[in-house]
Amino acid sequence: MYSVKGVITIGVSSQKGGVGKTTVSINLAYAFARSGRKVLVIDADPQGSVGLSLTRKTRKLKGFFDYLSDAGASFESVIVPTRMETLSLVPAGQGSEYDMSYGYDEGSLSGAGAGVKSFLTDAEEAGYDVCIIDTAAGLFGITKDILVEVDAVLVPQQSEPLGIRSMPKMLEALKKVRLLNPRLHILGVLLTMVQRNLRESVEAGEGLRSVLPDNLVMTTEVPRDDIFIKASARGLPVGVLKGGAEVLEEFNALRREIELKLVNSQQRNKATKQGN
Ligand SMILES: Nc1ncnc2c1ncn2[C@@H]1O[C@H](COP(=O)(O)OP(=O)(O)O)[C@@H](O)[C@H]1O
Ligand SMILES: [Mg+2]
Repeated sequence: MYSVKGVITIGVSSQKGGVGKTTVSINLAYAFARSGRKVLVIDADPQGSVGLSLTRKTRKLKGFFDYLSDAGASFESVIVPTRMETLSLVPAGQGSEYDMSYGYDEGSLSGAGAGVKSFLTDAEEAGYDVCIIDTAAGLFGITKDILVEVDAVLVPQQSEPLGIRSMPKMLEALKKVRLLNPRLHILGVLLTMVQRNLRESVEAGEGLRSVLPDNLVMTTEVPRDDIFIKASARGLPVGVLKGGAEVLEEFNALRREIELKLVNSQQRNKATKQGN
């Protein structure tokens, strides 16, 4: 057990779409919820599908972008409970004011920072232990606003040669975000869709580990498995499916690895403060 104070907020981000962000967000959230934490998984991708894949009817629900928009939905009104008491979700919702500016103007903030901050404060006040935020691809607009406010960022990446090449650049870009958010803990790259029986997939992962420092690549890997597609078709985390136990164990390992990193960085921060 780690003893981090208050809510822990984790952004799940990548430069490109289709790398497994949503899948990782949902299944990691489920692993945290199973461990007894009160968890909120937030869909911050206007084209996203956390809501869709967990409830299958969220298109008309209000969500995160409604909270951020001028019309301002309340925090409580955008929370959707799941069958699991410790796991709730926030769909992306309808508020489209912000997704308008999404896609151009690289590097800038969208101006939603104050809204993101107040949302996370509301989550803390509501007693959530962990917020996992599934962001849109890219590091600009709302996604950047989010990364400026969260404690940590996890970067899923498909374990295949082409995708892996852009990773050092992505991490450089994240380091720049740290100028705006010095406490941002870059948890590192999480290799996803790893095909352990395919040489190219394994080599892509090994190649990444050889060019990046150890602390920037998660030890845990997510295997490619058809069960993820079955789970999302049924609107469920993999862990609740028959045959999902093995995958759930991988996400438990990921959860523990993240907890350990966060405890260590908190202790380091404390030591630095005491040293001053
Ligand atoms: N580990 C995996 N094994 C097999 N399929 C996966 C895995 N992770 C994701 N997928 C599938 O790949 C597609 C893209 O994943 P998704 O999580 O939606 O990516 P993103 O949110 O980054 O766009 C989805 O159809 C999803 O079901
Ligand atoms: Mg997604």
